[in-house]
Amino acid sequence: MRETKLKTSRFLLKSPVEEDDFDEITEIKSNPKVYLTQLYGNITSREYCRFMFQHYITDARVSLARRKRWVFGIYPLETSYEFPKRKYIGNVGISKNAVSSETADLFFEVSPDYWGLGVATECISKAMEFAFEQGVKRIVADPVHGNEASKRVVTKLGFHDTGRSVPTYTGTSKHIYVFPKPKAAARIKN
Ligand SMILES: CC(C)(COP(=O)(O)OP(=O)(O)OC[C@H]1O[C@@H](n2cnc3c(N)ncnc32)[C@H](O)[C@@H]1OP(=O)(O)O)[C@@H](O)C(=O)NCCC(=O)NCCS
Repeated sequence: MRETKLKTSRFLLKSPVEEDDFDEITEIKSNPKVYLTQLYGNITSREYCRFMFQHYITDARVSLARRKRWVFGIYPLETSYEFPKRKYIGNVGISKNAVSSETADLFFEVSPDYWGLGVATECISKAMEFAFEQGVKRIVADPVHGNEASKRVVTKLGFHDTGRSVPTYTGTSKHIYVFPKPKAAARIKN
């Protein structure tokens, strides 16, 4: 098992997540505020959640040379009024279609208990830095139609709106945003 840990000023990003995190993961993924923006649908039980998202743990068993996906659990580094526990509060992930692919897809979700506190923006920025260090040349985000919070997050981070939409199997459409690898001196906005 290969553990990858990243740190932002407020959060630990850790891949793999812990087995115990599946209670929190299930609670977040079964919240309509979250699953209605996602294509996986309502995740109703811990067992189903574990079955659907076991890769949050098993991805870390793959050697670095063959790894295509990292899902980082997000954990507050310190307890505070806003973050009373140092537990799992969401995730940010990057995924490539093939090991040699230079494009990574970005995905993320945060417990509604912590929305609007800059969690996603801060953690995605760090995960993007990590993706570029792994040799990725561009990162794609594809919020579904109407997911204005997600669009705002990627816009804040400096993603370019391609103006393109693609249909999904659920009948909605996804809007495509791209962030190319910055030149050495440039930084990801945060
Ligand atoms: C999208 C999501 C991850 C954002 O997480 P977050 O930690 O609240 O994000 P941040 O606090 O970093 O930024 C949210 C921004 O969206 C804005 N926002 C929130 N709701 C909005 C809405 N309905 N319309 C426009 N902007 C909105 C916030 O004001 C904030 O922007 P600001 O900093 O300029 O004020 C969270 O809403 C979520 O988990 N949603 C469900 C899952 C999801 O959509 N995942 C992404 C799939 S592509």
